[in-house]
Amino acid sequence: MAKSHSAFVCQNCGAVYSRWQGKCEACEEWNTIAEEAAAAGAVPASQRTKRKGRSLKLEPLQGASEEAPRTPSGIAELDRVTGGGFVRGSVVLIGGDPGIGKSTLLIEAAASLAKNKRRVVYVTGEEAIAQVRMRAERLGLSAAPVELAAETNVEDILATLGEGATPTLVVIDSIQTLWTEAVESAPGTVTQVRASTQALLRFAKSTGAAVVLIGHVTKDGQIAGPRVVEHMVDAVLHFEGEGGHQFRVLRALKNRFGPTDEIGVFEMTGEGLREIDNPSALFLSDRDAGSPGTAVFAGIEGTRPLLVEIQALVALTALGTARRAVVGLDPNRLSMILAVLEARCGVKLSGHDVYLNVAGGLRVIEPAADLAVAAALVSSLSGAALPADAVYFGEVSLTGAVRAVPRAAARLKEAAKLGFARAVLPEAVRQEAAEGLSLTTIPALTALVAEIAARAPRLRRAGGDDA
Ligand code: TYD
Ligand code: MG
Repeated sequence: MAKSHSAFVCQNCGAVYSRWQGKCEACEEWNTIAEEAAAAGAVPASQRTKRKGRSLKLEPLQGASEEAPRTPSGIAELDRVTGGGFVRGSVVLIGGDPGIGKSTLLIEAAASLAKNKRRVVYVTGEEAIAQVRMRAERLGLSAAPVELAAETNVEDILATLGEGATPTLVVIDSIQTLWTEAVESAPGTVTQVRASTQALLRFAKSTGAAVVLIGHVTKDGQIAGPRVVEHMVDAVLHFEGEGGHQFRVLRALKNRFGPTDEIGVFEMTGEGLREIDNPSALFLSDRDAGSPGTAVFAGIEGTRPLLVEIQALVALTALGTARRAVVGLDPNRLSMILAVLEARCGVKLSGHDVYLNVAGGLRVIEPAADLAVAAALVSSLSGAALPADAVYFGEVSLTGAVRAVPRAAARLKEAAKLGFARAVLPEAVRQEAAEGLSLTTIPALTALVAEIAARAPRLRRAGGDDA
């Protein structure tokens, strides 16, 4: 009678199937379905106990509920991204590529809280105690009274946490290593990760401890397997950086208690992560100003203005189809700008390879970067360097018009602060925001192309006959 139940669960989205199949119909991923013992909670009807429901106390919408109290970690860039610190009873998932510095960031936050007389427990399922100690020593944090455990069993972890005072912060490094006896699947499977997260979520909500789960990221940038976990937790942070660069950016993808557009910027040094409170200066530090193909974009990340260099290289295609390679920007956005340049401004780029890069390994998502991208492209194509003291911002529409973008004043102020003398920007920006910069307003992309072309006889040759 008691048949052993097994189900086929998509390791990406958690959809359940009765048979194996190559493609998950729910999330359309291939090869993500794996056999697991019956999912948690799927108790056969015959075995369910006939428990009578307990009546709950219903609450009015209005009431004196405690304002989500926060505990600042003491690391300003981390607190900026979480919205002011760890919220009591919340669960935060922090993902990132292996080796990016997740453990380093969290041990630093743990030590900082512990030094302020808060109880902090750091549970590692990946490393041995000795390894965590070594890292702490290297960071000069050995003296902080962080309580350490190397454990992967959720029941044991919860029993340990239940003893003594409720911790202010519990760090789990990492969620993929945990397993709970409640389900039979192997550690790392969606079912295990989900059940373990659920148990920790219950712990956080019932005790008021803040729990941070560290998670791994798959090749395509998703927190491995459990997209489902992203929906369960209160906040999802992503720690990212380009290989070979020292800069690390912490970004909120979801945050129930704070903004999602803030970034925290760090630099990985020999003594751990250093906070960068003026990222623009860092991202522009080794700028190659006099050469064609670079434009400084005055951007906004969250509440903070951020200046970055956009680099473009346009070269004649040697053979076959033209290459388009983009790092740090949306490739669709590049295609759009190339199409507008070609259709509206007569700049022919279809016979050229185009490479585009955001310096410093930052990722720019604002459409306001369009004008800087276009300027860098035209500059590279024409061989005329853009003025080294100019910043660019503005959104390009499909008609070739340059549209206004929000928070122009903050962008100009940051540019002035960093010693720039002029700004090239959409027409709609009010002059009084100038901050002592000389402003060149651009109504349409053709005007920008004409301006650069005037200084660059090469454009006529390289851009085709009708340019
Ligand atoms: P780690 O925090 O272990 O990464 P994750 O937990 O995300 O996998 O960081 C590992 C990398 O960071 C490793 O390549 C070495 C580097 N690192 C430093 O450069 N300086 C330091 O002080 C520390 C602790 C690590
Ligand atoms: Mg780690």
